[in-house]
Amino acid sequence: MESMKILEEAYAYVSSRMTQKPDVALVLGSGLGGFTSRLSDSTYIDYKDIPGFPVSTVSGHNGRFVFGSIGNTSLVVMEGRVHYYEGYSMEQVILPIRLMHRMGADTLILTNAAGGINSSFEPGDLMLLTDQIASFVPSPLRGPNAESLGTRFPDMSRIYDERLIQVMEGVALKFNINLKHGVYLQTQGPNYESPAEIKMFKLLGADAVGMSTAVEAIAARHMGMRVAGVSCITNMASGLSDRPLNHIEVKDAADKASARFTTLIENFCLSI
Ligand code: HPA
Repeated sequence: MESMKILEEAYAYVSSRMTQKPDVALVLGSGLGGFTSRLSDSTYIDYKDIPGFPVSTVSGHNGRFVFGSIGNTSLVVMEGRVHYYEGYSMEQVILPIRLMHRMGADTLILTNAAGGINSSFEPGDLMLLTDQIASFVPSPLRGPNAESLGTRFPDMSRIYDERLIQVMEGVALKFNINLKHGVYLQTQGPNYESPAEIKMFKLLGADAVGMSTAVEAIAARHMGMRVAGVSCITNMASGLSDRPLNHIEVKDAADKASARFTTLIENFCLSI
C-alpha cells in the first residue's frame, strides 16, 4: 500500500541517522518550542531532508525532529507540525505520528495552542485533554486500512490515557501548576471561528478549540499508542473577549506559558 511505502521510505532515512530509540514522542505546538533546550545529548533531523515528509509553512513552526533524553526517558520531539489547513491530506498530516511510532515510541504527548471556550479558563492556562471532538475534520484513517498498523474500526472510547492523566495531575500538584481539564475540539482552520460557531462548540461540550491534535490522537490510538494531550489556552475564543484574534498574540501567550509548560512536561517524563 502506498501509505506504508511512504512510511517505510521515511523510516529508512531517519533510522540511518537516529542516535537512540525513543520511548516517548512529543509534538510541540505554536510557541512551545523552548522545551527542547531541556534535552540532554540532543541531535536533529530536519523534516526537509526526510523523503516524502510534509514541511510546515507556518511562521513560528520550525521543522525538525529533536532526539534527546530527560533523565532515563528517551524522546523524539517534533519542533513544528503540519496542519490540514496548509493543504496537506490528513494522511500526510499524521505521517509524522506513524513515523515516531515506527521509530519505537509507544507514548505520545500532543501539545497545542488553543482558544478557551470554557468560561472558567484564562489566557495562559494549561489544559489537560480528557477527550476530544474530531467530527468537524475528516478522519485520518479514511481510505484503505493499513492492517499492519491497526484495525479498520479502532475504538476511541478512551483516547487520552487514564494513567498518563494521573501522572500529569501529580506533577501539576507537586509544582503548583494550575492545570485545567477539558474537551478539545479540532477545526479545519485556518480561519478562527465566528462567535456563533463558538457558541455551538460550547453546546456540544467543547472546552477549547484549535486546528491540530485530535486527528494525531486518532492515528496514534489506531496504532495502540498511549496518548496524553496538553493545550496552552492562548486566548479566549471568538466572541468571548472583545478583541479580535491574531496569530502573533497566540504565540506571545504561548511564550508566557512556556516555563510552566516545560516544568510540566519535563517532570512528566521523569515520572513515567
Ligand atoms: N481558535 C482556533 N485555534 C486556535 C485558537 C482559537 O481561538 N487559539 C489558538 N489556536
